[in-house]
Amino acid sequence: MSQKPDRRDAERVAPGVANLVAPGDADSGANPGTNPGTPGDARRNVEANQQWGGRFAAGPSVVMQEINASIGFDKKLWRQDIKGSLAHAAMLAKVGVIDAQDEQAIRHGLEAIAHEIASGTFPFSEALEDIHMNIEARLAERIGEAGKRLHTGRSRNDQVATDFRLWVREAIDGLAAQITDLMWALAERAAQHAADPMPGFTHLQNAQPVTFGHHLLAYVEMLERDRGRLADCRRRGNECPLGSAALAGTSFPLDREATALALGFDRPTANSLDAVSDRDFALEFLAAAAIGAVHLSRLAEEIVIWCSAPYRLIRLSDAFTTGSSIMPQKRNPDAAELVRAKTGRVTGALVGLLTVMKGLPLAYAKDMQEDKEGVFDAAEAWALSLAATAGMVRDMTPDTVRMRQFAGAGFATATDLADWLVRVLKLPFRSAHHVTGRLVALAEAKGVDLSGLTLAEMQAAEPGITQDVFSVLTVEASVASRTSYGGTAPANVAAQAARWLKVLT
Ligand code: ARG
Repeated sequence: MSQKPDRRDAERVAPGVANLVAPGDADSGANPGTNPGTPGDARRNVEANQQWGGRFAAGPSVVMQEINASIGFDKKLWRQDIKGSLAHAAMLAKVGVIDAQDEQAIRHGLEAIAHEIASGTFPFSEALEDIHMNIEARLAERIGEAGKRLHTGRSRNDQVATDFRLWVREAIDGLAAQITDLMWALAERAAQHAADPMPGFTHLQNAQPVTFGHHLLAYVEMLERDRGRLADCRRRGNECPLGSAALAGTSFPLDREATALALGFDRPTANSLDAVSDRDFALEFLAAAAIGAVHLSRLAEEIVIWCSAPYRLIRLSDAFTTGSSIMPQKRNPDAAELVRAKTGRVTGALVGLLTVMKGLPLAYAKDMQEDKEGVFDAAEAWALSLAATAGMVRDMTPDTVRMRQFAGAGFATATDLADWLVRVLKLPFRSAHHVTGRLVALAEAKGVDLSGLTLAEMQAAEPGITQDVFSVLTVEASVASRTSYGGTAPANVAAQAARWLKVLT
């Protein structure tokens, strides 16, 4: 998961580190940046971090630098970091803490740095620990004195909390759009197959016929809740920590409303201790992601089952299957399997961060640096899973003939027979259940469906039964009768699919 910075990057800007790299390590692309010290490893970096090294006589040990640095993964926050710094500098100028020339120099410097990072020429340094200090040090290198004024009235603690909130917010917006796209794909297929019967399962045993459209719309409902959870998380997390400084707030006359507004937050956070130590926004995001990934995993599992030879209810095209290197006949639903499997990473990230946060005293502790990789990885896994699922939903071809055939298998209309006994003969449901059970046993012994029994056989079990009973024993009659709100009747399903297609536009 963790991408360590390229050792050569570190060498370029931190010559002290280069001297300490084990021979051959610099060029072994296999595991860049991994140069752990052994216990008793006496190797030290020559210089302390220039950003905070004032009171330090010597640099950190190699292993200290290795465990401390987050630049390998928090590079991802560079856009948010620059955005946050621009807003902070503009506010500092507005309240008169820095002058207009300094603000302008900072702005131009940060824009140039953004260009360097985007074009891949920025000299990332592991010795500078993280993205915040990499950018700030570079700014001072480029513009001198003015760059050193940027950190007035802020700390990396409120800075990282702000950057990470901005990142999560953007991830939420992208994922919500992808969820909507998948809902759209499912609703379109549901509209197409609103009346096509398929076996409905409980315990993965044939239970009652449903329509394929109805089954697909069940996932649209789940996805709607997933979108809702993301929206809730976005709303609650949309507060700006910037200006909380290290933990206690600051003595500078900051306009926290202004920075919050400039960064698109609803308001500044109200308690500086909470602001720098709260990671609820990340936890809520991961909780939403875990539930969302579990939903996708269930659909993926169904796709795997539906594609398997004994079922063959759907077919995926070459675009969403792979072959086997030894068995020429194979067509494997790997995308579905991987969507099913990626859930492990996402739920793992949630448990990981909950465990990091558990028992942390207020306010910031370096433990919290471990908050990012899981979130980045979960967001990526979820995004990829959503894209693959939408692709499969659009790609799959249901075998509606076979679905129809299996929809009636396993005495799937037995409940319809029992309901007929209740409705027409006014039998209590429990008695109807019992009579139907005897008829199922008889049909099973004869090797026929319920509709394969003769009227005489039926009447032997319940004398009141008439020929009319056969009208409820077909799959079509069964689904058509389920007209209760939320039921599988084709008319209901068509209306729900149409409603979703309208809501989603
Ligand atoms: N890289 C750090 C993190 O992600 C930034 C905050 C560091 N703060 C500090 N007090 N050392 O958490």
